[in-house]
Amino acid sequence: MTGEQINNQSFASGCPSGVEPVRLSTEFDPQASVPADSGAPARPELRSRASTLIYRPVTYIERLNLRQLFSSQRTLEVELGSGDGSFLAQYARLNPDLNFLAVERLLGRLRKLDRKGLRAGLTNLRLIRIEASYFAEYLLPRESVRALHIYFPDPWPKRRHHKNRLINTPFTEVTRQVLEPNGKVYLRTDNADYFAQMTDVFQSNSAFRIIDTPPLLSGIKTDFERDFEAKGVPTLRAAYQRAEG
Ligand SMILES: C[S@@+](CC[C@H](N)C(=O)[O-])C[C@H]1O[C@@H](n2cnc3c(N)ncnc32)[C@H](O)[C@@H]1O
Repeated sequence: MTGEQINNQSFASGCPSGVEPVRLSTEFDPQASVPADSGAPARPELRSRASTLIYRPVTYIERLNLRQLFSSQRTLEVELGSGDGSFLAQYARLNPDLNFLAVERLLGRLRKLDRKGLRAGLTNLRLIRIEASYFAEYLLPRESVRALHIYFPDPWPKRRHHKNRLINTPFTEVTRQVLEPNGKVYLRTDNADYFAQMTDVFQSNSAFRIIDTPPLLSGIKTDFERDFEAKGVPTLRAAYQRAEG
C-alpha cells in the first residue's frame, strides 16, 4: 500500500472515508508579526507564518524524521487522540521549550487545532492525521518521546468492542519503546471500566512504575473533561514512568 493510499484510508469507525488534501508548510518565520490580542506567545521564536501545522509524512512505512517536523529541535511530547486540541493548544503555549505533536484521526478536529495553533503563532506544535496505534508502533522513532498524553480515548463500552480500545497490553510495550528512558505516560478517562484496564496493563508491565500526575498538568482540562465535570462525572487519572534501562 502506498503512503497516499494509507493517508486516505479510514482506520476506525466514525472516521470519514474521504480525505481532503492538506497543504503543508514548513516555513516558519521567526520575525512574523502577530497581533497583540491573538493570545500568541511572547517569545518571537514561537511565532509562525505557516499556512498549516498539519504534517503529511513523506512515507507511512518508515519512522518520522523529527528534524523535518519542527524548525527547532526540542524535547518532544505527543498527544494521541488529541481531538480539537483543547489540551495541546494550551499546553504548547505554556511550554515553549518543548515540541508537541498532536495525533488525531478526524480531519475536522485536527483542522480546529490547526486554526488554534496558527492563531497563537505556535511553532512548537505540529499535527498529524493518522490512526494512533499504527502511528505509535510504526512511525514514531524509538525513544523519541518524553511524555505521551492520552486523554479520554474512546472507551468502546460494549464488551465485544473492547478489542478496539487503544490502551491494552501490546500498547504498553509500544509505549515503552517510544518513550525515552524515564519518559512518562499520562492517562485520563471518565470510564471506570477502561480505567481499570489501563491501570491493569501498565501495572503488569515491569518497565513502568506508577507516578503522580503533576497538579499543574491536571489543571489543564480538555473540552471533554470540562463537559464531563459539568455533568458531575469525575476524571480518573493515572501516570506511569518508564524505567531507565
Ligand atoms: C473522546 S475524544 C477526546 C479528545 C481529547 N483528547 C479531549 O480530551 O478533548 C477521543 C478522540 O480520539 C480520537 N481517536 C479515537 N480513536 C483514535 C485512533 N485510534 N487514532 C487516532 N485518533 C483516535 C477521536 O477521533 C477523538 O477525537
